[in-house]
Amino acid sequence: MTQEQTLTEFLIAEQRRVPGATGNFTALVNDIRLACKRIANLVGKGSLADLAGKAGSVNVQGEDQAKLDIVANRIFIEIHERAGTLAGMVSEELEDVWQIPEHSRGAYLLAFDPLDGSSNIDVNVSVGSIFSVLPNPDPAAEMGPAAFLQPGERQVCAGYAIYGPTTMLVISFGHGVHGFTLDREIGEFVLTHPNVRIPDGASEFAINSSNSRFWEPAITRYVDECLAGSTGPRGRDFNMRWIASLVAEAHRILLRGGVFLYPRDDRATARSGKLRLLYEANPIGFLIEQAGGRASTGDRPVLELRPTSIHQRTGLVFGSRTEVEIIERYHRDHNVRRFDAPLFGSRGLFRGAG
Ligand code: AHG
Ligand code: MN
Ligand code: MN
Repeated sequence: MTQEQTLTEFLIAEQRRVPGATGNFTALVNDIRLACKRIANLVGKGSLADLAGKAGSVNVQGEDQAKLDIVANRIFIEIHERAGTLAGMVSEELEDVWQIPEHSRGAYLLAFDPLDGSSNIDVNVSVGSIFSVLPNPDPAAEMGPAAFLQPGERQVCAGYAIYGPTTMLVISFGHGVHGFTLDREIGEFVLTHPNVRIPDGASEFAINSSNSRFWEPAITRYVDECLAGSTGPRGRDFNMRWIASLVAEAHRILLRGGVFLYPRDDRATARSGKLRLLYEANPIGFLIEQAGGRASTGDRPVLELRPTSIHQRTGLVFGSRTEVEIIERYHRDHNVRRFDAPLFGSRGLFRGAG
C-alpha cells in the first residue's frame, strides 16, 4: 500500500529542494496550517460554540464583523506573533500593520483574510481563510505599510483553507498548486490534489448580477453573451454560480474551470472594486496563475499591480485563461470606463472642448 503524503512530509521535501534553507519558511507554513486547523475546528462547531452572529463592531472597511471574524483573526495573530518567522502582519480585520516584537522578528510578511465569506457562516455555507506570504524587502527599515506594498508576483507562497464538507488547504510555493484534505482521524492534512490544473473551455460563470446596473460595458457584454448561450455569439450554453464566498468560488474554479468576476463598477463604494488586493486578489490570483489560469483586474494581470495602500480594493476577474482573455479584450474594446467609451473619447461625438 502506498503511504499518503502528509503536508509535513511535503514541506520537508520542499525544504530539501532549497539549498541553505533555514527551516523558517517551513515553520511559517506549519503555523499557517495550525491556525487553519484551529479555525476549522471552531467553524465546525457552528452554533454549539456560541460564536454565531455579529460581534456588534465594524472593521476598518466599515463592514460588520462576525464573532468568528474576530476570533479567527486572534488565532492567526497569536500563533504567528512570537514564532520568529514574521516581520509584520496585515489582516482584513486590523486597521494597521501588526508589529512583531523585535526579539521575535523573522524574514517574511503575512497578509491574511482570517475568515472569508463570513456573511455565510450563519447559514452553514463554506467559508475559508486566505493567506499571502511576501519577503520583507528591507529588514533594516521600520516596519510599516510600505513593506507590504509589493506586487503580487513577489509572493513566495499563497493559499487558502476552505471549511466546507471537508476542510482543505490549497497552497502554492510558486511551482504548481497542491490541495491537502484534513484527515480528522489523524489531525493531518494529506495530499489529495497534487498539481491542480484549471480545465479550460468550461462554461460556468460567477458574478453577483444584482450589481448589473452599475457594470462597465465590457462586463455587461460578456455576461449578456453568456446568457444568450447557444443562440448568441458564444455558440454554447453557460451555467451561472454565486456562492458569495471567494474561497469557495476559487476552489470550484480551480477544480472545475469557469470564471469569477467581481468587477469594479460605477457605485461610489465600488469604483476600485470590492475585493482587497493584498489578502484576497493577490493570493487567489497567485494560485489561479500557478494552476494555468489567469487573474486580472479586468484589463491587466492583477499580480502586476503595485499596491498603494494595505486595504486597497481591486476589480477581480479570474479563472480559465481563455475566458479571462475574452473579458480583457472586451475591456480594451470598450475602453477603461463608461465615460471613456468611444462616444465620449477624444474623437467621439461628445468630446470635451479644448
Ligand atoms: P469577507 O467575508 O472576507 O468580507 O469577503 C466577502 C467577499 C467574498 O468572499 C465574496 O466573493 C464577496 O465578498 C461577496 O460579495 P457580495 O455580498 O457583494 O456578493
Ligand atoms: Mn474576504
Ligand atoms: Mn474576511
